[in-house]
Amino acid sequence: MGVCFVAGTMVRAQQAPAGKSFDLIEWNGGKFIYGADYYPEAWPESQWEKDAEMMQEAGINFVRMGEFAWVKMEPQEGRFDFAWLDRALKVLNAHGIRAVLGTPTAGPPAWLYTKHPDIAVMDANGVRYRFGSRRNYCLHNPDFRAATARIVTALAEHYKDHPGVIGWQIDNELSDPKCYDAISQAAFQAWCQRKFRALEALNAAWGTVFWGHTYHAWEEIPLPWNTLFNAYNPSLILDFDRFQSASTHDYLDFQAAILRKIAPRQAITENEMGMFQETDWYDLNHSLDFVGWDNYPMMYKDLTQYAIPGLAHDLMRGSKDNQNFMMMEEEGGLGGWATFIGRQVDPALYRVWAYQSVAHGADGVCYFRWRTSRYGTEQYWQGILDQDSYPNARYAMVRQAGRELQQLTPLLHGSKVVSVVALLNSPDSRWAFQNQPGVEDFQYDQQLQDFYDAFRRAGVSVDVAFPPSDLAAYRIVVAPALLVSDQALVDKLTAYVQSGGTLILTFRSGVKDENNVVTDRTLPGAFAALAGVAIHDFDPQMNEEQEIVGPGEARFPARCWSDILTPTTAKVLATYGRAYYAGKAAVTVNSAGKGRVYYVGTESRSPLFYDRLIALAARQSLVALNGQIPQGVEVAVRQKAGKKIIFVLNYTGMGKSVPLEQAYRNALTGKAEPLEVQIPPYEVKVLTEP
Ligand code: GAL
Repeated sequence: MGVCFVAGTMVRAQQAPAGKSFDLIEWNGGKFIYGADYYPEAWPESQWEKDAEMMQEAGINFVRMGEFAWVKMEPQEGRFDFAWLDRALKVLNAHGIRAVLGTPTAGPPAWLYTKHPDIAVMDANGVRYRFGSRRNYCLHNPDFRAATARIVTALAEHYKDHPGVIGWQIDNELSDPKCYDAISQAAFQAWCQRKFRALEALNAAWGTVFWGHTYHAWEEIPLPWNTLFNAYNPSLILDFDRFQSASTHDYLDFQAAILRKIAPRQAITENEMGMFQETDWYDLNHSLDFVGWDNYPMMYKDLTQYAIPGLAHDLMRGSKDNQNFMMMEEEGGLGGWATFIGRQVDPALYRVWAYQSVAHGADGVCYFRWRTSRYGTEQYWQGILDQDSYPNARYAMVRQAGRELQQLTPLLHGSKVVSVVALLNSPDSRWAFQNQPGVEDFQYDQQLQDFYDAFRRAGVSVDVAFPPSDLAAYRIVVAPALLVSDQALVDKLTAYVQSGGTLILTFRSGVKDENNVVTDRTLPGAFAALAGVAIHDFDPQMNEEQEIVGPGEARFPARCWSDILTPTTAKVLATYGRAYYAGKAAVTVNSAGKGRVYYVGTESRSPLFYDRLIALAARQSLVALNGQIPQGVEVAVRQKAGKKIIFVLNYTGMGKSVPLEQAYRNALTGKAEPLEVQIPPYEVKVLTEP
């Protein structure tokens, strides 16, 4: 059996020095990064000068280009043409606009598929795709690796000293697709061999005794392709998900190593996908200088639900230990492929979303895209401009925000989001639930979102932690539905509680070990002593079939799952209201060491339930809540030298008034704001301490 990595690909790229934060504003010559994703290759050169003028007029000083332009850069194997890109850069640079170039591997040329049809993805039914679409490649294919090395090397050599190129975006939204061909299978087998060393260890870890799936040779290990009755081994699938994430990382490192060697002066990033987490962002981002990500809030039905993109921002910030990040694609118009997504919004809302990114730690905002494409799949995905280049209302919005953000740069530079509350996002639990949700409509994201929303409604900043993150600074850590955990994570959470932290766990925690194997201890397994509860029975549910009674007389609808709790050392805060387990504990709190653990055995669609719960936890953990923020308005805070920069963001079409605890000054007008801040529809106010 052959190990199918191209020689050297498992070597990690040089990483940004530990502990050193990358300063995006400094990197951009002291300017707040403000830009658009630009595709000059799709427009006549005669239009470029006018584009650059309009960009400059709108305050744009940055573009991202090239991530799909492989065939323009290498029209034939080994023949490179960067002249068009040189000319585009020259025009842009003359208007003070610098670029991040995408390595163009997201769009491999047709000639590459003609020569190597096997670079295309094979699906889980064994069907090989053909040329078309994008990111249609198998990460381990040696021909694809060789072609990648050739184009990335040529691009880096050409632009390594170009003053107008300040960095690289590797590929575009690296992650799926998963490839199920023989090369991928061999790579998976090699990955398993490195992980388990001995086949007996793999057989034991995956419980292959079940249905007689025991392996006697590494070559027998299958991929989780579509099987009869859709039957699968959850342990194998979780390791395949980890393998896919590691392979994505390895492919990124493969490119990063070339770029760092040839062009060490330039920074490296990626455009990631927030809550779409087929890749472990925390792991991947070790190889990047800073996080870039793509934010499309219009995908959500209720646009006043600002906490949905809010959580994604905070997750992306947390994926590189809360270093400030960059919006590589910020919604600049209505989305849509075959049909438009949703309906058009007041253009002012795009500005509010841009400010939301900044409020959550973005030091750069780059809109997708400068102008809507005339061609291809994305004819209905609006850019700032429409195809006719008319300076429309969205352009006016971009120009306004561009001017404001340059004015605010000295204030924002060096400021950060600071939180005392964290949500723990576990890629292992997420992936395990993805394959085996337990209940049909269980949503791991919903578990995170319910608690996140409650804290945001109370005006509390939230960080998102990953299993390796340092938790010491947090007063409250919410680790919902921690289905899969290894001993290191159990030890970390135990130590956190012992030394005074408040931990909130929810149903399905402690069920499985790191191999996705169910524990034989009484649930919640490794967390039972810490939470002071035992679970001898549970009830999977579909709808609002249960009820939570308490704390006190309050009643809340409950759904999805009931862990029926038997307190061992915990105190009961709420019980179930219905079914044969009415009166049994649903929510408990337990003192452990210097801290405490809440265990929430069910889920509610009532925001009030979460408001009450976090209020209890906050009171005991000395976290101040500000519960008077009106619906559809967000208050978010960055801090600098102990002083607050407050963003008041109105996502609704109605004026609102927001009481603050002290009077602030408006950072844009310089004027004092009243204690009760008036915020017009779709408006933003940036406030500073006087
Ligand atoms: C992003 C992608 C862009 C563009 C955009 C709109 O996910 O990175 O290239 O496709 O979506 O569909």
